[in-house]
This record gives sequence, C-alpha cells and structure tokens, in this order.
Amino acid sequence: MRSVGIIGAGQIGSAIARVLAESGRWSVIASRRKIHEIENLKNFGVEITSDNREVASRSDIVIVAVKPYKAIEVIKEISDLLDRKILISVAAAVPIRKLKAAAPKAKVVRAMPNIAVIVKASFTAYAKEPGLNVKDEAIVVELLKEMGEAQEVDEELMDAVTALSGSGPAYIATLIEAMAYAGLKVGLPREFSYLSSAYTVYGTAKLYLESRKHPAIIKEMVLTPAGTTIEGIFYLEESGIRTAIMKAVEAATKRAQEIATKLNELNKID
Ligand SMILES: NC(=O)c1ccc[n+]([C@@H]2O[C@H](COP(=O)([O-])OP(=O)(O)OC[C@H]3O[C@@H](n4cnc5c(N)ncnc54)[C@H](OP(=O)(O)O)[C@@H]3O)[C@@H](O)[C@H]2O)c1
Repeated sequence: MRSVGIIGAGQIGSAIARVLAESGRWSVIASRRKIHEIENLKNFGVEITSDNREVASRSDIVIVAVKPYKAIEVIKEISDLLDRKILISVAAAVPIRKLKAAAPKAKVVRAMPNIAVIVKASFTAYAKEPGLNVKDEAIVVELLKEMGEAQEVDEELMDAVTALSGSGPAYIATLIEAMAYAGLKVGLPREFSYLSSAYTVYGTAKLYLESRKHPAIIKEMVLTPAGTTIEGIFYLEESGIRTAIMKAVEAATKRAQEIATKLNELNKID
C-alpha cells in the first residue's frame, strides 16, 4: 500500500483524504493546525496530525491542499523531506516553477480537482514537471482517478481549467437552484423540484459521457416541432444563457491570472 500525506485538510484536502483512505488502496495521513476539525477523518481510516513534517516524512506522495498564498511557505517547511518523492499541489494559481523552486528534490505535479471529489466524480486536470517519469506519472494518475476522471493539460491552461471545472460545481449548483426555483414557480413540491433538477443535470451529463453524442444531438433528441421544449429553449436563447456562461468562465480565467500575478509578486517579496 502506498502512503499518501495531505497537508491542509480543509474542504478539498479532507475530501481527498477520505476518498483515498476509503478505497483501501492507500494509507493516508492528513494535517491541519486545528486538528479537532478533522477528528471525523479517523472514522474513514485517515491518521491525523498537526505536524506537517510528520506527514511528509511518512509519505511517498505528498499532496498540498492549503490556500494558494500559503502553499510555498508550507512546502518550504517540508522541502528537505521530499527527496525523490512525488509532490502534488492542488493550489490554484501556483505554478510548477514555484513549486519546484520550493522543493527542488521533489517530483512536482500541479493538479486542479473540483469539490465533486467528495462523491468520487471530480474532473481533475494535472500538469507535470519534465522530471516526472512514466512510472511516477502512472502512480499520479492512479491516485487522481480515485477521485474521478483525470486528464493531463499544458500548465499554461491551468487558469482556464480552474475557471471551468474547478469553479464549475458552483455554476452547476446555480443552474440546479435556478431549475428548482422554476419548478417551484410552476407548482412542483420543493424536495421534488430540487431532486428532479439535480437528477436531470446528472442524467444529461451521464448521457453525454456514455454516448459521446454532441450536446446539440442530445438536444435534438428532446425537441419536437411546436412542442414544449422548443418553447423553453426559445427563452433560454433569448436570455443569452450561452454568452452568460462564456463570459463567466472568461472572467473567472482572468481572475485566476490576476491572482497568479499577485501571488508571484508576493513570493518575490518573500
Ligand atoms: N475548494 C475547492 O473546490 C477547490 C478545488 C480545487 C482546488 N482547490 C485548492 O485547494 C486549496 C484549499 O482550498 P479549500 O477550499 O480546501 O480551502 P480550506 O477549506 O481553507 O482548506 C485549507 C486548509 O489548510 C489548512 N492550513 C492552513 N495553514 C496550514 C498549515 N500551515 N499547515 C497545515 N494546514 C494548514 C487550514 O486549516 P487550519 O487553519 O486548521 O490549519 C484549512 O483547513 C486551495 O489552494 C484551492 O485553490 C480548492
């Protein structure tokens, strides 16, 4: 069993720790300073500590899941313990170049999961440093696939990935909420409305993923001339739903780039 350490067991770090431990294929130790907040992780077989150096020394793979502005500080704290180990950072906006400078002996991967890790349905994109060999990459992919789907991307696309699939659950939650409100407006019971909206998002995504039919084809499968769906689609198109989503992702990408620039300046001062 490979040992994995998670430093920064907050929202995403705790989810990763739990999923890996529950699989039974990884031994997992996780840290944060307020350790009482993660007592529950013990129930899933995760060891907990407030000592980041203990995590690093006992793990073959170390995942850093603290806030972006803390990532470099935390990695420097454990850097000497990372000789030939795999270091995966899930921090937004922190480039491989900075991670590598903070931990020169580690083999560095930058990954961007999303909160659906909790249900093993994250879409996780990762970029790797050139020093990562095929065997190491296979281990990284095996680990990331415990959380859902994993795909490699060029590092330069990471801000866009952050904006689309990293932030994506918030957009889709907004959509589910909007559909549920719509259900309430046309008289559906509350619970029924939320469940039917969420399940429709889930089912449509599953249909795309399993059939790989273009979304336009899926839409065609529902549309009938002068029917109900085209009536609804007319108003969605009129409201500019597509451009609203495109603008949202574009704005979030720009924001990720701004944060990266700010962090870069902050680290220069350090
Ligand atoms: N949330 C998401 O959906 C998501 C998705 C993809 C990527 N990310 C990335 O994941 C990272 C964490 O995000 P999050 O939303 O999970 O934030 P979060 O809930 O605030 O988790 C960060 C954790 O780091 C711990 N921490 C802070 N300083 C520490 C230290 N010196 N040593 C050990 N632990 C420390 C904090 O706990 P204590 O204060 O108790 O130490 C906190 O629980 C960010 O870099 C973010 O970009 C998040």
